[in-house]
Amino acid sequence: MDECEIKLKSKNEIILLKLGGSLLTDKNKPFSLREDILENCLNQIIESNKSIVLIHGGGSFGHPIAKKYQISQGLNDSIKDQIIGLSKTHEVMNKFNSIIINKILDKGRSAISVQPSSIFVQDFNEIIFKSIDPIEKMLELGIIPVLYGDILLSWDSSFTILSGDQIILKLCEKIQKFKISKVIFGIEEDGIYIEDNGHKRLALKLKYNDLPNLKLAELDQKIDVTGGIKGKLEIIKEIIKFNVPVQIVNGIKNQNILKALNDQYLECTRIEPTSERKSINKLYNRKIEHIKISLEHNVQHVKNYFDEVNLIHHPLPEYELEDINLSVDFFKKKISAPICISAITGGHEISKVINNILANAASSEKIIMSVGSQRIGLEDPSTVDSFKIVRDIAPNIPIIGNLGIGQLCDLTFNIDNFKKCIEMINADVMAIHFNALHELVQSEGNISYKNFEERFKEIRKNLKIPIIAKEVGTGFNTDLALKLDLLGFDGFDVGGTGGTSFAAIESIRDADSFEAYTRKISDTFREWGVPTPVSIMNVRKVSKKLIIGTGGLKTGVDIAKAIVLGADIGGFAFKFLKSAWQDYKNNTQSNTIKEIKTLKQELRSSLWLMNVENISKLRNNKNKRILVGELYQWVNQ
Ligand SMILES: Cc1cc2nc3c(=O)[nH]c(=O)nc-3n(C[C@H](O)[C@H](O)[C@H](O)COP(=O)(O)O)c2cc1C
Repeated sequence: MDECEIKLKSKNEIILLKLGGSLLTDKNKPFSLREDILENCLNQIIESNKSIVLIHGGGSFGHPIAKKYQISQGLNDSIKDQIIGLSKTHEVMNKFNSIIINKILDKGRSAISVQPSSIFVQDFNEIIFKSIDPIEKMLELGIIPVLYGDILLSWDSSFTILSGDQIILKLCEKIQKFKISKVIFGIEEDGIYIEDNGHKRLALKLKYNDLPNLKLAELDQKIDVTGGIKGKLEIIKEIIKFNVPVQIVNGIKNQNILKALNDQYLECTRIEPTSERKSINKLYNRKIEHIKISLEHNVQHVKNYFDEVNLIHHPLPEYELEDINLSVDFFKKKISAPICISAITGGHEISKVINNILANAASSEKIIMSVGSQRIGLEDPSTVDSFKIVRDIAPNIPIIGNLGIGQLCDLTFNIDNFKKCIEMINADVMAIHFNALHELVQSEGNISYKNFEERFKEIRKNLKIPIIAKEVGTGFNTDLALKLDLLGFDGFDVGGTGGTSFAAIESIRDADSFEAYTRKISDTFREWGVPTPVSIMNVRKVSKKLIIGTGGLKTGVDIAKAIVLGADIGGFAFKFLKSAWQDYKNNTQSNTIKEIKTLKQELRSSLWLMNVENISKLRNNKNKRILVGELYQWVNQ
């Protein structure tokens, strides 16, 4: 296969094609098309008969007006009629877009205009894409959605410019139903020119790792309001993270657009993700998808068995409310209340901000904080900061590190890797997460744990800090709990059903994973597992070690319920993910701190109303609980 060929892989593939504004218009003459070039490009699109999303730039239509009214700088009262200029910028781009749509229709293919200013808004520094559905539906019908550089309205009643390149990046992030086989940028040059020993040379093939050190030739070329080739490269770096190859081709020459669409040889710049980056990127994207899906969809288990745990009310409390003591020890460190921020995240820019917010709240409220799986920190050192920040922000609280049984059983994984994770955050405790169902229902999952015992014994022997066994929402049975206790685990995070369901998350992530079967395995197993209250009791039955009760806890009353069943600590993932996300959006820290304060108040009130003076008197106290309904049946089988 030739250097510039990129093979298409399945029927559900689409191509994102960006035709630059300077390619289609004469930049020196406002509102002037380069008719021949436009016609030629559109003919090639029609001839290819490919599934395409077309995006075009502003060129001499949008740019002069945007520049005149300084739209990219945002709202500025000193610019006369700037708001009129905003509408004019949008309107002129609409006209340009309409010309293109009509030409495509005249050539016999269906195309529909998609107004970016109606489906994108800016929320702080993030561009929010309201709904991808219309674009995916158009593609299903064989229609070419046509988008364009437009104005972008923002959260603070201001605005800026949304470039066609930014739109492409967002499409790469959001399109789920189709595989994007590549992104093609049609420009006026043959590709990217670089300096090579004092000579200017066309870069034919670039890899992700080449991009940061690229010495561009002709840096001053074609700077417009949305940035020149340098800006494009920044966007390309992000596109590559979605494992989408990029081709930059000369749209004027030699039927290049058609050749690129048909994967034929042409002289151009081709940028491909490296195979190593591909697997890291999968992990990188997966981590952030878990967060987004948890927040945007209902992925909670249908039934929460804490509803079937009743605490016994005591009408005449003997203690003063403020004298109720919530503080407990967690592996020799004192904490103000038995609350743990469960493992959520790490390994992404957004994770870093979320971990900062969580660590700050955990530190100021003196509770336990966990980080998400540190695997990505081992595979991509550039992500270590997103974990390390937790210890930097919270030097004194107990911090729990996190790795999975999958890594532990991987033969390339060794003690040094484990030690690196501990050092990364100066962890007080390491959690090994057991997530067999989650691994099973995801296409890239690791489901072979044959050598677990042997590997764990080796790690246990060589490490000084406590290691806990953590489930992630499917719970423990008694037999395994006993086995793990005897193997040398120092505690458990029981993570049962009732809260976040990873099968539900994967069902949304892998929208097409069921293609070969009649239904998705992730849907069938959505509710699979041992309920959290049962999981706590299963472990307490066979182990005297520490138990964190996680999975579906919502309030401080639920912490009391977890403790009365035998847990030492209550853990929350989804609750703190939501509060941290609110803080992230509002650029605050207070929502997460308030949430912890509320949990403490509810827990203290529960103890007072049961006439229990401290946590140890509540732990596994059968006189203070009544189990009803299905939960009673689970326990009394
Ligand atoms: C977005 C998200 C990411 C998570 N990532 C991890 C992880 O990396 N490692 C882990 O052990 N558990 C992880 N979990 C599982 C939680 O720590 C917790 O066990 C589970 O979500 C149940 O608690 P909840 O019902 O309060 O959400 C994650 C949970 C969520 C919601």
